Amino acid sequence: MTEQELVGTATATGNGATTAATPEPVPAENPFERLGRMRAESRLGGGQRRVQDQHKKGKLTARERLEALLDEGSFVEIDAFVQHRSRDFGLDEQRYLGDGVVTGTGTINGRTVCVFSQDFTVFGGSLSEAHAEKICKVMDLAMKIGAPVVGLNDSGGARIQEGVVSLGGYADIFLRNTLASGVIPQISAILGPCAGGAVYSPAITDFVVMVQGSSYMFVTGPNVVKTVTHEDVTQEELGGAATHATKSGVAHLAERTEVDALMAIRRMLGYMPQNNREQPPTISLDDPDDRRDFMLNAIIPDNPNKPYDIKEVINRVVDQRSFMEIHEGFADNIVVGFARLGGQAVGIVANQPAVLAGVLDIDASVKGARFVRFCDCFNIPLVVFEDVPGFLPGTDQEWRGIIRHGAKLLYAFCEATVPKMTVITRKAYGGAYDVMNSKHIRGDFNVAWPSAEIAVMGSKGAVEILFRKEIAESADPEAALAAKDAEYRQKFAHPYLAAERGYIDDVIEPADTRPRLIHALRLLRNKQDTNPWRKHGNLPL
Ligand code: HXC
Repeated sequence: MTEQELVGTATATGNGATTAATPEPVPAENPFERLGRMRAESRLGGGQRRVQDQHKKGKLTARERLEALLDEGSFVEIDAFVQHRSRDFGLDEQRYLGDGVVTGTGTINGRTVCVFSQDFTVFGGSLSEAHAEKICKVMDLAMKIGAPVVGLNDSGGARIQEGVVSLGGYADIFLRNTLASGVIPQISAILGPCAGGAVYSPAITDFVVMVQGSSYMFVTGPNVVKTVTHEDVTQEELGGAATHATKSGVAHLAERTEVDALMAIRRMLGYMPQNNREQPPTISLDDPDDRRDFMLNAIIPDNPNKPYDIKEVINRVVDQRSFMEIHEGFADNIVVGFARLGGQAVGIVANQPAVLAGVLDIDASVKGARFVRFCDCFNIPLVVFEDVPGFLPGTDQEWRGIIRHGAKLLYAFCEATVPKMTVITRKAYGGAYDVMNSKHIRGDFNVAWPSAEIAVMGSKGAVEILFRKEIAESADPEAALAAKDAEYRQKFAHPYLAAERGYIDDVIEPADTRPRLIHALRLLRNKQDTNPWRKHGNLPL
């Protein structure tokens, strides 16, 4: 007789003892029906009403999101029957199969990914001990099989009723995020409020994708902000997608809808290998390797101070429609993103002369450095388009540490061992010349267009320093300045002094950029380079 069948079958005797009455047999549930019932219960998450609430907010459920993200029918769930073990605050009365997170594996364009998707309908997607264990388990699996992890986050943070146990759960995830960093790609979608601890796991992952108008990330919400700093701020202003994609740089992509965000993740993964031991997939886009683009010959304005759009250069050089820009709204004086050249995935880093003349400031340096390091971790060759007047001067930048932050970009390029290519389109001045993947820091293929100006500084600054006295004392200072400027430009504002030294490998016609880069990329396919053994380097943070 089962425990269940015994319940309610004992009757009291006069002396307080009990004798067994004839038990009413409870019909045993068919094991298959039981499985079906439990699975259906698990699929329902926090119940129909909360699912409707989620839809009313214009949000998909955890499972609908997985359906949109993964190849059709590919999702295989694990741990659907996990429940929390807490008894405080009436939690023992509220137990949901799956405990607020759906985990498992699936495929994206036929390649395996490990996924977790937080279910806001169960305790607001908050993280309990059991919920954290499920995420850790699927991350451990990802590390064992060498597959990317995609986390779909929609969570009120630590499950308040579970106290420190839930904080421990977060720490277990942070540790795994850190150990997986550089081993398998990790991508986070933020698809609702992510408060408290819920923001730090995404922050350690490689890319954060948000949705405009419905996703938020903050360490503490507007109410706590009001109490502590007396600031009145909305959720959107404090930690919405626009804020993080433009001001803080926490978000790499801010998409219009949840489905757009999930599609962007699918696309992004197409440029990445499954793990750091593999090469990224090669996908032919039927763009001829030898395609020359003569429009490039006319793209640099005659006036060296006039801007042009480096994205046009990128799009004309890479395989058609292959450029996927990352971090578009943040520090747009530098452009980073994935693309393909002859089908092979590459990471693009380009100064943008159309914004602040392409100068390197703190945000641009950090943005570039993080992207370079990602590409280097995952065997994605780097292609640099360089047109940079230098680092941004001034007290604001100096006091906030442009030296420390600019050094990050320098460090990132120096330590990278993937194939590294640079095309100098126009200015390569000062320290920025060294930083932007110069030959001296292990650039493998460095070329310049005939319009390149490679020197310690621009002509105006140089002439004012070198000839200040001479110009001031001349009968016609303006004419003297113009003459010196012309002399300096004739002497230094070209690529041939660098070419004379072998600091660049060639000066090429812009139209030839694509075929030359593809040739170099093929040449460098089996490139081997290493860094000295060490526990880890000490990146200037
Ligand atoms: C338990 C939670 C919860 C939480 C929400 N819920 N957050 N349950 N723990 N952290 C529950 C609610 O009680 C509610 O249950 C359901 O989820 C939906 O929540 P609502 O408040 O009704 O939804 P909404 O109005 O959309 O607001 C969402 C929210 C808000 C902005 C996330 O719930 C909120 O501010 N939650 C608390 C956020 C927070 O401070 N978390 C702790 C951070 S500290 P019912 O039963 O009504 O459906 C932290 C420390 C970790 O995370 C540090 C590690 C470094």
